[in-house]
Amino acid sequence: MEQKIKRKVVIDCDPGIDDSLALMLAVSSEELDIRGITIVCGNGPVDMGFGNAKKILNQMGRLDIPVFLGEERPLKRAYQDALDTHGADALGESFLPEVPGYENAQSAVDFLIAGAREGGLSIIALGPLTNLARMLERDREAFSMLEEIVSMGGSFRSHGNCSPVAEYNYWVDPDAAAAVYAAAGELGKEIAMVGLDVTRRIVLTPNVLSYMERMNPETGGFIGRITKFYLDFHWEQEKLIGCVINDPLAVAYFLDRSLCSGIRAYTQVETGGLSAGQTIVDAAGFYRREPNALILTETNPPRFFKLFLSRVLKIGERELEWLDFLPAVSRGFGIPQMGGEFGQ
Ligand code: BDR
Ligand code: CA
Repeated sequence: MEQKIKRKVVIDCDPGIDDSLALMLAVSSEELDIRGITIVCGNGPVDMGFGNAKKILNQMGRLDIPVFLGEERPLKRAYQDALDTHGADALGESFLPEVPGYENAQSAVDFLIAGAREGGLSIIALGPLTNLARMLERDREAFSMLEEIVSMGGSFRSHGNCSPVAEYNYWVDPDAAAAVYAAAGELGKEIAMVGLDVTRRIVLTPNVLSYMERMNPETGGFIGRITKFYLDFHWEQEKLIGCVINDPLAVAYFLDRSLCSGIRAYTQVETGGLSAGQTIVDAAGFYRREPNALILTETNPPRFFKLFLSRVLKIGERELEWLDFLPAVSRGFGIPQMGGEFGQ
């Protein structure tokens, strides 16, 4: 029997409700050799994210995967959490019991450097890019040895979610995001940017959630428990029935390139003023610079959900054909949500 080679990957994240769903997808995917999970401050403080990652691994029976504590504040700016969106425990106020032990002496940045130096390592970044920027500062050569970087963050044509132009991960530490994109340009690397243009189309609705809960009460019930707060938040903020789950799309794209497509362009991140965190995508080639980013602009929500449900909830693909007919989603207060004037 031919042995398939697994891809070595670290998931850098700030769990976080949607980070947790992304972790669930990653640990359910046999093609991945998950070397570790590195935590950055973001949705919650870094030690809260560390605890939440352990809770998810515990739920999935994967406490064999090590978790590393990362940076506790952005490079230059004051830290701003997103507990209003993710709940007081950053896990939808599920208040799951802490998973004891399992502390790790090595820092996230040390772990990333050592892993990159071994070769063949990719990073799927689901939070602010602070850990990656610190890695870059400490050991640029190790950063240059990374095989691939997929980052959930930024937006191109879609509006922001923290300001009219900025998405949370890049807004909370714009200096880190700017440094990582600039270095990618200088080192001839390309970041796959899974931004709001595509993730806004991934809306977990009560209908899909209810199906998950019925088909797999254990895992579906767990997902219901951690997403309820997030659903309520979306209703209150946007009058959207459902919640936008950004991060799992980055993992899904890493697993299956045909899930998203986009354009290659030189991309910079604004660090100050009104537009801090904005991704400036030179789609028209003004700067005559080689692309340092693949900006994903199109995706296929039914195919995403089929991948997620078949892997995480172990539901047979044939039972999921109904997802081809996912119902339209409320667009809330006229805020472009699902492929309106900014979407497709
Ligand atoms: C991103 O910000 C966080 O709140 C989510 O976890 C996601 O990574 C979306 O803007
Ligand atoms: Ca995140």
